[in-house]
Amino acid sequence: MTDNGMTGVCLRGVRVIDPFRDVDSRDEDLTVVGGLIVPRDDPRARGCVEIDGRGLWLVPRIVDMHVHFREPGQTWKETIETGCQAAAHGGVTGVAPMPNTLPVVDTPELVEWEAQRGADLGLVHVYPIGAITRQSQGEALADLYFMHQKGARAFSDDGHPLTSSALMRAALTYAATLPAAIINHAEDRQLATGWCNEGPVAEQLGLAGTPEAAEAVMVWRDVMLAELTGGWLHEAHVSTVESLHAIRYAKAKQLGVTAEVTPHHLLLTDDALREWRYDPVTKVNPPLRSKATREALVKAVSDGDIDVIASDHAPHHADEKSLNYQEAPYGISGLETLLGATFTALLEPGLMRPLDLMRLLTVGPHRVLRLSYPGLIPGAAADLTLIDPQRRWVVDPGQFYSRGRNTPLAGRTLVGQAVATMVQGRWVMRDGEVLNAGVSNLHR
Ligand code: DOR
Repeated sequence: MTDNGMTGVCLRGVRVIDPFRDVDSRDEDLTVVGGLIVPRDDPRARGCVEIDGRGLWLVPRIVDMHVHFREPGQTWKETIETGCQAAAHGGVTGVAPMPNTLPVVDTPELVEWEAQRGADLGLVHVYPIGAITRQSQGEALADLYFMHQKGARAFSDDGHPLTSSALMRAALTYAATLPAAIINHAEDRQLATGWCNEGPVAEQLGLAGTPEAAEAVMVWRDVMLAELTGGWLHEAHVSTVESLHAIRYAKAKQLGVTAEVTPHHLLLTDDALREWRYDPVTKVNPPLRSKATREALVKAVSDGDIDVIASDHAPHHADEKSLNYQEAPYGISGLETLLGATFTALLEPGLMRPLDLMRLLTVGPHRVLRLSYPGLIPGAAADLTLIDPQRRWVVDPGQFYSRGRNTPLAGRTLVGQAVATMVQGRWVMRDGEVLNAGVSNLHR
């Protein structure tokens, strides 16, 4: 494609929503040359490829800071390449893969390998998250310093809660010196003995449920340890009313605490189990919650109490997801529905301004991962997404680039979809097609 190399691209008539500069402005033009935003009258922009962007939003640097790619070790579920393709398809320009691979990403060598693999693919930015503890076993701290040196942007044992309060204290204390955030998957495993949310739906289906308290007791503990240490705590996939109280408490005290919610917890409830019955496509950890809790999460996001929306993209093979509810693995393949599900939950009902919503997908993850981006100004990298906010589309997992087709949103109509994704001035997706042009070596 002529406009996919060093030739300039002029995007005309777009609505620029740039949370990095607090700008929401209609009918704008934006020019990209050599991977960078340039002024409109830049001589290098002469002869640029014109793109009519009327009716589209242009948003910089959407980062999904919670994804599971399964490489190394379980590449039948996802590889870094298929995960990056799914990201580009979903309109995401950067991803932070969790370290629960086989082996666990708990060494500087593995962090470096993952970052390099992402850069070589040249699709979207890959920001590795290193394990907090060796093999994520919760027994001894991993080599946080050297992982950080090699590009780990934060640390997490996601999938495994960090049970030891003493280790959590040490991790928060140590990571603060780097500095980097500790991301916890809060779950008291002695309370979390069920397969879905504890409540009437679980009872009706005869499935063991897990109470909200299983999450909230650990969120409160983490908040207290953030207060004790002065460290930076990021709570992953917050899904309970009481967790929200803890986050609000932390914010009122101006602690270094940030929090994330997923689109599936904002859009779905455990009613989805009534629809899908014993199909584990709804099985996710933390579980889909009650209607009242979903409403509380939506309110917390629209009130500005939440910092990040992230997909918790957790691809699994169809064979694994066709086991019975108890045995199937937890997870929803979410990268390609991130924007649509989020918009449908929050924008469609008019609960948020687009600029405030996009902040949670851009500035929020940049803050937690300590990435910097100046916004769409001349000289900035052209990492951006064109979004059709009105487009209604039916989720068809058969169209996913991800190897994981496991989503309870299958067949559902969502509103809002990415139509093009650009990373460092190169289109990596246009009109739903991922462009693996093989231009490698993204700047890390
Ligand atoms: O549903 C989930 N799937 N929750 C997690 O915490 C881990 C993830 C996975 O790795 O599949």
